[in-house]
Amino acid sequence: MKIAMGADHAGFRLKDELKSYIESLGHTVADLGCNCADSVDYPDYALAVCDQVVSGEADKGILICGTGIGMTIAANKVPGIRCALVSDLFSAKATREHNDTNVLSLGERVIGPGVAQEIVKIWLETEFSNGERHRNRINKVKALEDKYAIHP
Ligand code: RB5
Repeated sequence: MKIAMGADHAGFRLKDELKSYIESLGHTVADLGCNCADSVDYPDYALAVCDQVVSGEADKGILICGTGIGMTIAANKVPGIRCALVSDLFSAKATREHNDTNVLSLGERVIGPGVAQEIVKIWLETEFSNGERHRNRINKVKALEDKYAIHP
C-alpha cells in the first residue's frame, strides 16, 4: 500500500521513526512533512495527507501531532475521511473492522514508539469487517457530510 504521512513539529520525530518501520513492512511512504522542530500548524499537514487519501493517490494516511487530537479534528472535516485517534491495540483493530478508518492519528507526546509501531501494524493489516450493521452506520456518517456540506 501507499501510505501518506504527515506531522507537525510535535510529531515529526515519531513520523520519521514510523516511516522506516512501515517501509520495512513492504509499504511505500509519501512523507508530506514537516521535517523539523520549527513551529507549524497541524491542519496544513492534515489537509495534505487527507487530499492524497480522498484523491486515491494514497491508500491510507497516518497523522501525528503532540496529542493526535488536533490532527484528528482537522482530518475529519474532509469529506470521505474517517480518522481515528488511537493509543491502544484493541482500538487499532476495532476502528478498521467497525469504522473502516482510512486515516490513523497518533500522539507523539502520548504513546511511545514501540506501542506506535504495534498500533500501525495492526491498523494496516486489519480489514474492514464489511458487516451490514457497520456499513449502515458508515453510510449514516456519510449522510451527515452531505447534510452539512456547503454548496456554493
Ligand atoms: C503543538 O504544541 C500541539 O498543540 C499539537 O501538536 C497538537 O497536540 C494539537 O492537537
